[in-house]
Amino acid sequence: MASCLAPALLLLLLLGSPTNVAPNRCVDAADACTADARCQRLRTAYVVQCLGRAAPGGCPRARCRRALRRFFARGPPELTHALLFCPCGGPACAERRRQTFVPSCAFSGPEPAPPSCLAPLDACEHSRVCRPRLLAFQASCAPAPSNPDGCLRDQVPSCLRAYAGLVGTAVTPNYVDNGSARVAPWCDCGASGNRREECEVFRGLFTRNRCLDRAIQDFDGGWPSVLHDQLDPHQDPEHSLLQVSSADASLEGSSMLSMLPVLALQPLL
Ligand SMILES: *[C@@H]1O[C@H](CO)[C@@H](O)[C@H](O)[C@H]1NC(C)=O
Repeated sequence: MASCLAPALLLLLLLGSPTNVAPNRCVDAADACTADARCQRLRTAYVVQCLGRAAPGGCPRARCRRALRRFFARGPPELTHALLFCPCGGPACAERRRQTFVPSCAFSGPEPAPPSCLAPLDACEHSRVCRPRLLAFQASCAPAPSNPDGCLRDQVPSCLRAYAGLVGTAVTPNYVDNGSARVAPWCDCGASGNRREECEVFRGLFTRNRCLDRAIQDFDGGWPSVLHDQLDPHQDPEHSLLQVSSADASLEGSSMLSMLPVLALQPLL
């Protein structure tokens, strides 16, 4: 079962959706990443890691997360951020946004229920990788009650950068569903005992943070210029081939799949 699913997921992640009925900026962002050699290479690297099998039913989570940190650290920010914050008007786009970084490996699991947020928080505080990133996120996305709109001026870029920096750490956040742009790490505060308040404060950095919410929403404003150049179909022949294949609505699923080895798997070999 898993071996059937993986190629389909690769197809979804590496190519656009074959029938592009509604505008879907997450697909546009994926196409733009595909057209950029460095973005495509780093994304292929994390997809391969995150879809890998470790123990039965498990995945190589540490390697998956490391590859994700590399993607956001070394990829072109305008492209990696477009994948993470693509503005969505419907569930298909938002579901794709939620799936962007293979959350089944990097975000949730291995247990079916989320742990107490104290677990990722404690792990992060003891991690040289995670701790400075969490501090940067706290500082960059912090509300500023003394300011007129409640957030720091010009906060959006640094807040989004700091948020992206957490992806691939012990406190990897993600969108909680495909009906909103709300985000949270994979945890809750149900079983946090006498540290309940500490737990809620930490979780609230993501779930009750109007400056973070606004920064994610504001990415919309920077969108058109971000991808304008990237989506020029004359930019390179391989990319225009991808554009043709994803725009051709009459294309059968089977022929789409038969093109897959040529178009998408080549960089994996
Ligand atoms: C949105 O999420 C729900 C619940 O997880 C799921 O059943 C549904 O298929 C998702 N919608 C899309 C378009 O993927």
